[in-house]
Amino acid sequence: MEDRLWVWGGRPLEGEVRLPAAKNSVLPLLAASLLCSGPVVLHGVPPLSDVQQSILLLQALGCRVNWQNGGLAIQPPVQPPCGVLPAGPVRAMRSSVFYLAPVLHAAGRVSMPMPGGCDLGPRPIDIHLDGLVKMGARVAWQQGVLCLECPPRGLHGADITLRLPSVGATETLLMAAVRAHGPTVLRGAACEPEIADLADFLRSCGAHISGAGSPVVWVQGADRLGGAEHTPIPDRIVAATAAAAVAGTGGQVLLRRCRGEALGQVLEVLRNAGCEVTLTQNGLCIARSGPLQGVGRVYTGIYPAFATDAAPVVAAGLLTARGASAFEDTIFENRFSCAEGFLAMGAQVRRAGRALEILGGGRLHGAEVTAQDLRGGAALVVAALAAEGESRIGGLCHIRRGYADIAALFGGLGAELGVCAG
Ligand code: EPZ
Repeated sequence: MEDRLWVWGGRPLEGEVRLPAAKNSVLPLLAASLLCSGPVVLHGVPPLSDVQQSILLLQALGCRVNWQNGGLAIQPPVQPPCGVLPAGPVRAMRSSVFYLAPVLHAAGRVSMPMPGGCDLGPRPIDIHLDGLVKMGARVAWQQGVLCLECPPRGLHGADITLRLPSVGATETLLMAAVRAHGPTVLRGAACEPEIADLADFLRSCGAHISGAGSPVVWVQGADRLGGAEHTPIPDRIVAATAAAAVAGTGGQVLLRRCRGEALGQVLEVLRNAGCEVTLTQNGLCIARSGPLQGVGRVYTGIYPAFATDAAPVVAAGLLTARGASAFEDTIFENRFSCAEGFLAMGAQVRRAGRALEILGGGRLHGAEVTAQDLRGGAALVVAALAAEGESRIGGLCHIRRGYADIAALFGGLGAELGVCAG
């Protein structure tokens, strides 16, 4: 039986967090290393289970991948890869979709089952595929396996308008464009910070990109890209998770290397809840000593609106606030699987469609709960830290996809928690 996390809640958090590299930067960056003819080094990579799955995919494609000095060194394949991606790692995460474009360029073809990942609702990949078709790829489904092929001369540039600003599709099409023949324009692109980070890496490899991080991105394709070293941006969702925990427990924590703009509207919501948020040259300081207030209705949205991934954890931090809050996710249908766990801890909440409604004002007590997805699992930890007594949290496999060691993260801030056998 899988191990579980025990949490003895009710203590304020104090100390500092050195934020890890952003999961949602590292994963596309690892796939993008396949576009490079030279060695790639990514610094400060957290040992997440999704990173481990990515390493398996890169090795299956002929890359040599080694951990070194807290980062990953990737040597490109000597021979062009065969293009068939192993089903295990592909089904383990959504980020396997990022291998479509780089493997198309490297092998001329790619086949894989539908990517896996958190069950947040239907997660089609039509925008990825429509863009690749516009660039010349041929797409077929054979017994549930997605098969793509390049035209004889490889992918060509195109003027592509995304049906909606999909983060992953923007990254897929950016990776396709940097090695395509001729120019590409991506219109209606996503603007999340991780996209600019990917573009920064690709430019350091010799790619010609402008506008990344804005709704219109221009790319001039190149026949070849060299290798590069890159330090991914800090993880803004880990920052939001730690900040939400401080809101729930009280205390004061410095989030090193955290930039205010990375958190966008999350900071405004935490201030409205009664937290003090201070930007310093070392990072962002979050504190709460006074009463916790409800924040009314919050809608998630595309960057820089309130990040969908932050909704469960910030909701968890506000479960005992005086006054009502509600979080409505406009991005995913099934964002609040954690509501069941909140109820078990005595929270006054209810799910209403895409929203989680928090009556607030109650007190939380420890409970036995189980994570159903990554950010919902982190939200259960945040709630348990604010609850009186002991909680036991199962489903750690979900949490480990995005937090290398959540016990160490909060243990380093004075929380009493640890991992115990199942
Ligand atoms: C990325 O997922 C992140 N994952 C998610 O973080 C994040 O929640 C999401 O962006 C939104 O910010 C990674 O970067 C690895 P989308 P992605 O494509 O790319 C629909 C976490 O916890 N859509 O922007 O899958 C889709 O169904 C994870 O770290 C299509 O309809 O998100 C969703 O409703 C969870 N067709 C919406 O767009 C497509 O082809 C946004 O999805 C693609 C997406």
